[in-house]
Amino acid sequence: MKFAKTVGVIALLAASQIAQAQAWPSKSMTWIVPFAAGGPTDAMARDIADKVSKQIGQTVIVENAAGAGGTIGAAKAAKASPDGYTFLVGHMGYMGAGPALYKKLAYDPVKDFEAVFRFPDTPLVLLVGKNSLYKNAGELIAAAKAQPGKVNFGNAGVGSTSHLIAALFEAKAGIDVTPVSYKGAAPAINDLIGGQVDAMFDQSNTALPQVQGGRLNAIALTSLAPMPQQYPGVAPLAEKVLPGFEAATWYGLYAPKGTPKDIVQKMHQAYVKALADKTWTSRMANQGIQLLPEAQYTPEAFAKHTASEVERWRKVVADAKIQID
Ligand code: MLT
Repeated sequence: MKFAKTVGVIALLAASQIAQAQAWPSKSMTWIVPFAAGGPTDAMARDIADKVSKQIGQTVIVENAAGAGGTIGAAKAAKASPDGYTFLVGHMGYMGAGPALYKKLAYDPVKDFEAVFRFPDTPLVLLVGKNSLYKNAGELIAAAKAQPGKVNFGNAGVGSTSHLIAALFEAKAGIDVTPVSYKGAAPAINDLIGGQVDAMFDQSNTALPQVQGGRLNAIALTSLAPMPQQYPGVAPLAEKVLPGFEAATWYGLYAPKGTPKDIVQKMHQAYVKALADKTWTSRMANQGIQLLPEAQYTPEAFAKHTASEVERWRKVVADAKIQID
């Protein structure tokens, strides 16, 4: 009798989930971006949200919940109702390296989320102020070697990609730099322009207008190949200074665990339809954004990628001895 009741309750719950998924989306949804507005994660999220919103016929509200390298916003998303109306824009930092970096993380990137779809990747660029003494990465490394701790690097928060890549650069170059953390790349870039910090790794697509506008100088790339269209004359770090050095940020959309699979699939389909717009994808490619084969954008592939990145970063963080708490 008790068993029959339990089965009945489960059947009711399943039926209400199906009804909810069928009616979805009946109202606007929120995408949490865990960094300040105007930075790379925010820009990428708003661009993709705009295209997906047109496909699903509902507004996507981008909510900036900044702080602690993205972990505050990610924890908020993990606790949100899994009803298909709250999503997290995640990236390599807090959803890949987070578990290796933070002893106490309020969420598990794999167990607490459904992967929805992966965004294209973006390589990074090493930036300095326009009046900087460092004309290339070799000069910056030499200065940091001569005076350990003197060169400071802005970053978007502890565990952000700008922080992680600077820490890897430091480890590979055998130098000691001073990190200066902000609540996102946008405020850090403002201080780099203002001369309060000496250098910063930023996403190559959003840094481009600052470099083309003459406000910042680009002195190295984290891609293996040069980017002559976007950054003419700027050498990859791997070319001479740090052979083998390669980094690109991955991003993607996640939903709280338990979000109906049907909703996850509909979101992914909307994204794939949006990507059929070649004017849009060419614009991204022209900015140096690395589009991926379609198979890598799926929820299944993105879930696998997230799990493998969590493992990869455990090793990278241990090998490079990156410590933050
Ligand atoms: C990062 O460095 O993790 C991102 O650029 C942060 C941001 O989007 O502001």
